[in-house]
Amino acid sequence: MGTLDREGLRRAQQETEGSPRRRYGVPARILFRLLDVFYGRPRTLSKFKVLELIARVPYQSWEQVAYVAITHTYERAGLARRIYDRVQESRAQQDNEQWHLLLLEERIARQEIREGWLRFRVIPQVIAFAYYQVSWLFYVLCPAWSYRLNADFEDHAEHEYMALVAEHPEWDTEPFESAFAADYAELDTVADLFRQIGYDERLHKQESVARMGEPRFR
Ligand SMILES: [Fe+2]
Ligand SMILES: [Fe+2]
Repeated sequence: MGTLDREGLRRAQQETEGSPRRRYGVPARILFRLLDVFYGRPRTLSKFKVLELIARVPYQSWEQVAYVAITHTYERAGLARRIYDRVQESRAQQDNEQWHLLLLEERIARQEIREGWLRFRVIPQVIAFAYYQVSWLFYVLCPAWSYRLNADFEDHAEHEYMALVAEHPEWDTEPFESAFAADYAELDTVADLFRQIGYDERLHKQESVARMGEPRFR
């Protein structure tokens, strides 16, 4: 993933703030509504943690479908290679979402934010499980549907992270210290951390938008 410098991150925030959200499809709107019902409308770290937990799921479902697709392709090396490249792309994005999740968990633990077991352990897994099924089924039926759903999800995440930064001007002077800084990115402030995550989400969105127009494996 591309790490931006201080200036680049500020510019990225302005770009997101100045660009309209995608016109979300029905499945994405249902998901966002559900998240508001369970976790409230205010932007809290705990709600973003749930978002990140769900964010990994489409990449896992695509990886799984690609693995099935690659099984009988040994006679067509070009196709096998293309599918394998797709598997690697899905894995890289999954890993990137994993760092987002760990960084949020770390902050939540440090701030000693209390989270209920049902609301923050059980329900997110139930939502993630259902989302996996939808993402998987869409991908099997028509990959563009699945990519569109993910583009909506990532666009929402991008805008939500940049809005979160805007709501917390105090983060601009709070140094970013994390056990995961070396793995994720060396950034100056907490504001820059969330700008960088928001920018990652934009890249995820752009990748899904680019894939929407492509035919299935061939
Ligand atoms: Fe993320
Ligand atoms: Fe993402």
